[in-house]
Amino acid sequence: MTSRETARSRSGPEDASHAPGYEVAGGYELHVNGTTRTVEEAWLGESLLYVLRERLGLSGAKNACEQGECGSCSVLLDDVVVCACCVLAVDAIGSHIETIEGLTRREAAADVQAALLSAGGVQCGFCTPGFVVAVYDLLRRRPDAGELEVREALSGNLCRCTGYGRILEAVRMVQEERSRVAL
Ligand code: FES
Ligand code: FES
Repeated sequence: MTSRETARSRSGPEDASHAPGYEVAGGYELHVNGTTRTVEEAWLGESLLYVLRERLGLSGAKNACEQGECGSCSVLLDDVVVCACCVLAVDAIGSHIETIEGLTRREAAADVQAALLSAGGVQCGFCTPGFVVAVYDLLRRRPDAGELEVREALSGNLCRCTGYGRILEAVRMVQEERSRVAL
Protein backbone atom coordinates (compact mmCIF):
# COMPACT_ATOMS: atom_id res chain seq x y z
CA MET A 1 0.00 0.00 0.00
CA THR A 2 1.17 3.49 -0.68
CA SER A 3 -0.15 6.71 0.77
CA ARG A 4 -1.45 7.56 -2.66
CA GLU A 5 -5.00 8.74 -3.07
CA THR A 6 -6.89 6.07 -4.95
CA ALA A 7 -10.52 7.20 -4.80
CA ARG A 8 -12.00 7.36 -8.24
CA SER A 9 -13.88 10.35 -9.49
CA ARG A 10 -13.47 10.51 -13.23
CA SER A 11 -14.23 13.99 -14.25
CA GLY A 12 -13.81 16.36 -17.14
CA PRO A 13 -15.67 18.82 -19.26
CA GLU A 14 -17.32 16.04 -21.22
CA ASP A 15 -19.13 14.76 -18.13
CA ALA A 16 -22.92 14.66 -18.42
CA SER A 17 -23.28 16.78 -15.30
CA HIS A 18 -21.62 19.71 -17.04
CA ALA A 19 -24.73 21.76 -17.18
CA PRO A 20 -25.92 25.18 -16.07
CA GLY A 21 -25.85 25.36 -12.31
CA TYR A 22 -22.73 23.25 -11.93
CA GLU A 23 -20.29 26.08 -12.58
CA VAL A 24 -18.49 27.52 -9.57
CA ALA A 25 -19.90 31.04 -9.51
CA GLY A 26 -17.13 33.60 -9.53
CA GLY A 27 -14.46 30.94 -9.77
CA TYR A 28 -12.25 29.87 -6.91
CA GLU A 29 -8.65 29.98 -5.75
CA LEU A 30 -6.10 27.21 -5.40
CA HIS A 31 -2.80 27.42 -3.59
CA VAL A 32 -0.32 25.94 -6.05
CA ASN A 33 3.46 25.87 -5.73
CA GLY A 34 3.44 28.64 -3.16
CA THR A 35 1.23 31.03 -5.08
CA THR A 36 -2.49 31.65 -5.22
CA ARG A 37 -4.03 30.89 -8.59
CA THR A 38 -7.55 31.86 -9.63
CA VAL A 39 -9.61 29.31 -11.50
CA GLU A 40 -12.36 30.91 -13.54
CA GLU A 41 -15.28 29.57 -15.54
CA ALA A 42 -14.79 26.17 -13.97
CA TRP A 43 -17.44 23.64 -13.19
CA LEU A 44 -17.73 21.50 -10.12
CA GLY A 45 -16.80 18.18 -11.71
CA GLU A 46 -13.36 19.09 -12.99
CA SER A 47 -10.50 17.03 -11.66
CA LEU A 48 -7.47 18.64 -10.11
CA LEU A 49 -5.43 17.25 -13.00
CA TYR A 50 -7.68 18.90 -15.55
CA VAL A 51 -7.57 22.24 -13.77
CA LEU A 52 -3.80 22.15 -13.34
CA ARG A 53 -3.16 21.26 -16.96
CA GLU A 54 -5.94 22.95 -18.88
CA ARG A 55 -6.80 25.98 -16.77
CA LEU A 56 -3.55 26.83 -14.99
CA GLY A 57 -1.06 25.79 -17.68
CA LEU A 58 0.81 23.38 -15.42
CA SER A 59 1.30 20.46 -17.79
CA GLY A 60 4.00 18.63 -15.84
CA ALA A 61 1.56 16.16 -14.30
CA LYS A 62 0.57 13.86 -17.15
CA ASN A 63 -2.78 12.39 -18.06
CA ALA A 64 -2.30 8.77 -19.03
CA CYS A 65 -5.11 6.66 -17.57
CA GLU A 66 -7.31 9.24 -15.83
CA GLN A 67 -8.50 6.59 -13.39
CA GLY A 68 -5.91 6.31 -10.66
CA GLU A 69 -3.93 3.42 -12.10
CA CYS A 70 -0.68 4.83 -13.48
CA GLY A 71 0.62 7.60 -11.21
CA SER A 72 1.63 9.84 -14.11
CA CYS A 73 -0.49 12.64 -12.64
CA SER A 74 1.06 12.49 -9.14
CA VAL A 75 1.17 15.73 -7.17
CA LEU A 76 1.54 16.54 -3.49
CA LEU A 77 -1.65 17.63 -1.75
CA ASP A 78 -0.90 18.86 1.76
CA ASP A 79 2.34 16.87 1.53
CA VAL A 80 0.64 13.61 0.56
CA VAL A 81 1.11 12.09 -2.89
CA VAL A 82 -2.20 11.87 -4.71
CA CYS A 83 -3.32 11.04 -8.20
CA ALA A 84 -4.57 14.42 -9.37
CA CYS A 85 -6.94 12.74 -11.82
CA CYS A 86 -8.86 11.29 -8.86
CA VAL A 87 -9.23 14.47 -6.84
CA LEU A 88 -11.86 17.06 -7.56
CA ALA A 89 -10.20 20.43 -7.94
CA VAL A 90 -12.75 22.07 -5.67
CA ASP A 91 -11.82 19.58 -2.94
CA ALA A 92 -8.29 21.01 -3.05
CA ILE A 93 -9.45 24.51 -2.12
CA GLY A 94 -7.60 25.53 1.03
CA SER A 95 -4.92 22.88 0.58
CA HIS A 96 -1.35 23.31 -0.52
CA ILE A 97 -0.73 21.74 -3.92
CA GLU A 98 2.79 21.11 -5.14
CA THR A 99 3.40 19.93 -8.67
CA ILE A 100 6.52 18.81 -10.48
CA GLU A 101 6.94 22.42 -11.62
CA GLY A 102 7.13 23.55 -8.00
CA LEU A 103 9.62 20.85 -7.05
CA THR A 104 11.75 21.70 -10.07
CA ARG A 105 11.65 25.44 -9.44
CA ARG A 106 13.09 25.08 -5.97
CA GLU A 107 15.36 22.22 -7.02
CA ALA A 108 13.86 20.05 -4.29
CA ALA A 109 14.18 16.95 -6.42
CA ALA A 110 17.11 17.94 -8.64
CA ASP A 111 19.20 14.94 -7.60
CA VAL A 112 16.29 12.57 -8.28
CA GLN A 113 15.83 14.03 -11.77
CA ALA A 114 19.57 13.87 -12.47
CA ALA A 115 19.83 10.28 -11.27
CA LEU A 116 16.89 9.19 -13.42
CA LEU A 117 18.61 10.67 -16.46
CA SER A 118 22.00 9.28 -15.55
CA ALA A 119 20.70 5.77 -14.89
CA GLY A 120 18.67 5.66 -18.09
CA GLY A 121 15.41 5.72 -16.19
CA VAL A 122 13.92 8.19 -18.65
CA GLN A 123 12.94 6.98 -22.09
CA CYS A 124 9.71 8.46 -23.48
CA GLY A 125 9.52 10.45 -20.24
CA PHE A 126 5.76 10.34 -19.90
CA CYS A 127 5.91 8.64 -16.51
CA THR A 128 8.91 10.62 -15.28
CA PRO A 129 7.22 13.55 -13.49
CA GLY A 130 5.12 11.11 -11.48
CA PHE A 131 8.15 9.05 -10.55
CA VAL A 132 10.06 12.18 -9.51
CA VAL A 133 7.22 13.21 -7.20
CA ALA A 134 6.95 9.69 -5.75
CA VAL A 135 10.70 9.24 -5.22
CA TYR A 136 11.03 12.72 -3.73
CA ASP A 137 8.23 11.93 -1.28
CA LEU A 138 9.60 8.50 -0.36
CA LEU A 139 13.17 9.61 0.29
CA ARG A 140 12.22 12.57 2.45
CA ARG A 141 10.15 10.23 4.63
CA ARG A 142 12.36 7.14 4.38
CA PRO A 143 15.86 8.12 3.27
CA ASP A 144 17.20 4.65 3.96
CA ALA A 145 14.34 2.72 2.38
CA GLY A 146 15.35 -0.74 1.27
CA GLU A 147 14.62 -2.11 -2.17
CA LEU A 148 11.34 -3.77 -1.19
CA GLU A 149 10.13 -0.57 0.39
CA VAL A 150 11.15 1.39 -2.68
CA ARG A 151 9.34 -1.05 -4.94
CA GLU A 152 6.24 -0.82 -2.78
CA ALA A 153 6.33 2.98 -2.67
CA LEU A 154 6.64 3.17 -6.45
CA SER A 155 4.10 0.45 -7.16
CA GLY A 156 1.49 3.06 -8.03
CA ASN A 157 3.63 4.41 -10.86
CA LEU A 158 3.60 2.57 -14.16
CA CYS A 159 6.29 2.80 -16.83
CA ARG A 160 5.92 1.18 -20.21
CA CYS A 161 9.49 1.76 -21.37
CA THR A 162 12.21 1.09 -18.83
CA GLY A 163 11.34 -2.21 -17.18
CA TYR A 164 11.77 -0.39 -13.83
CA GLY A 165 15.32 -1.62 -13.21
CA ARG A 166 16.91 1.67 -14.20
CA ILE A 167 14.42 3.60 -12.10
CA LEU A 168 15.28 1.49 -9.05
CA GLU A 169 18.94 2.05 -9.85
CA ALA A 170 18.34 5.81 -9.89
CA VAL A 171 16.76 5.66 -6.44
CA ARG A 172 19.76 3.72 -5.13
CA MET A 173 22.11 6.32 -6.65
CA VAL A 174 20.28 9.15 -4.90
CA GLN A 175 20.41 7.31 -1.59
CA GLU A 176 24.13 6.64 -1.94
CA GLU A 177 24.96 10.20 -2.91
CA ARG A 178 22.90 11.71 -0.11
CA SER A 179 24.55 9.36 2.40
CA ARG A 180 28.00 10.27 1.07
CA VAL A 181 27.30 14.02 1.31
CA ALA A 182 25.93 13.62 4.85
CA LEU A 183 29.16 11.98 6.10
S1 FES B 1 -3.62 9.74 -15.05
FE1 FES B 1 -3.96 9.76 -12.91
S2 FES B 1 -3.36 7.79 -12.23
FE2 FES B 1 -3.13 7.71 -14.40
S1 FES C 1 9.83 6.22 -19.73
FE1 FES C 1 8.13 5.85 -21.07
S2 FES C 1 6.50 5.31 -19.73
FE2 FES C 1 8.24 5.45 -18.44
